[in-house]
Amino acid sequence: MAKDTVTVTNNATGQSVELPLYHGTHGPSVFDIRPMSKQLGLFTYDPGFVSTASCQSGITYIDGDEGILLYRGYPVEQLAEQSSYLEVCYLLLYGDLPSAEQMGEFQDMIMNHSMVHEGLRRFYSGFHHDAHPMAIMVGVVGALSAFYHDSLDIHDPQHREISAHRLIAKMPTIAADSYKYSIGQPFMYPDNSLGYVENYLRMMFATPSKPFEISPTVVRALELIMILHADHEQNASASTVRLASSSGANPFASISAGIGSLWGPAHGGANEAVIRMLETIESVEDVPKLVARAKDRNDKFRLMGFGHRIYKKYDPRARILRQAAHEVLAEIGAEQVPLFEIATELERIALEDEYFIERSLYPNVDFYSGIILKAIGIPLNMYTVIFTMARTVGWISQWMEMLDDPEYRIGRPRQLYVGEARRDYVPIDKR
Ligand code: CMC
Repeated sequence: MAKDTVTVTNNATGQSVELPLYHGTHGPSVFDIRPMSKQLGLFTYDPGFVSTASCQSGITYIDGDEGILLYRGYPVEQLAEQSSYLEVCYLLLYGDLPSAEQMGEFQDMIMNHSMVHEGLRRFYSGFHHDAHPMAIMVGVVGALSAFYHDSLDIHDPQHREISAHRLIAKMPTIAADSYKYSIGQPFMYPDNSLGYVENYLRMMFATPSKPFEISPTVVRALELIMILHADHEQNASASTVRLASSSGANPFASISAGIGSLWGPAHGGANEAVIRMLETIESVEDVPKLVARAKDRNDKFRLMGFGHRIYKKYDPRARILRQAAHEVLAEIGAEQVPLFEIATELERIALEDEYFIERSLYPNVDFYSGIILKAIGIPLNMYTVIFTMARTVGWISQWMEMLDDPEYRIGRPRQLYVGEARRDYVPIDKR
């Protein structure tokens, strides 16, 4: 990592400090503020950490201005076209694409861990019958730590690897079970002869009483969604996983914290929110009203599936999924998904509107993933669960990278205190 310096001067005192300036492979350089607090006694203020690099990472690179997303250096467009979700998992976890032999071993390893402990399955019956599957996910994934204490030593690389494999392998089973429980159907066991995504779809939609059939277009569309959601560098949920595990917490507890963060509508909950929003529109004629609401400063309403904290030109994932959405709808018949017409009109109006152009608000990945998931029959409350399943490998890769980083310490942000100055306690009868 190339190094220069930046000098920061406190104009009030005239004191200066020289800070190391680091240049990464791509992207903006960062200066190391650590000497600043030690030598000037000053902290930096950065709500939402929008200007702060919290770590060094070699996993994912995003250039929001240019619409670039790379996993371990590979453009996501190439991976979406030529790779599979499990190969992307290998790439994210181990840093390079696997040989055919490595891929075969990895696939066997993951598929062989796909069953969950029967005791874990009994947890489901403790949840309220209409619990949101994400609520179940947070609880059940956290509970995995109670089943695998044989591999919770985070300082042992073998323990870390087996936990990583278990999490990736069991996530589809846990996800499908959370759905089956919510609709009162029997859980399906995994079928390890199927591919990762197909196996998940089978556990979701098959029942013991009828054979399972699914179109390859549907499998491919979901595989694409999974690849495009596999990692996204230091977003809210990945940062949550890093922060939670920086205390030494076990991977299951830390991933469970990440799931909680992902659930929010400004993050992974957005694709569900997109469909809920589209469902409020009765016909294409009503679309301008929704756009007007989004532009109204006195209305807190935002167009779900539009805008991104990082991508200010376009979201490369959205571009790929836009095409996939059209392909899926061409196969199943767009008339089967009345929302599609409304979504297309919303996309058209927003892309031509000055308000959205000025603020660089484009349809994001959730806009199109929501439409595809709706088209392929995934229930609305499972959208964020699918995102969880896809992102698990990203969280684990971030977690493993953090533990190998000699610079890592327990996360402990500071604050600008603006509360009451020191004051004395007044007994209750004197207040
Ligand atoms: N609809 C209407 N106006 C919007 C929207 C929207 N979806 N998003 C941003 N704006 C406006 C906002 O009101 C502000 O306007 P002004 O400058 O006049 O005050 C301006 O655009 C900048 O907004 P911001 O809140 O500073 O932007 P941000 O980068 O902090 O927010 C965001 C990014 C994704 C939270 C936001 O665009 C949003 O809430 N979008 C809808 C939810 C959504 O689709 N989330 C999924 C994100 S992609 C999934 C992922 O990667 O996790």
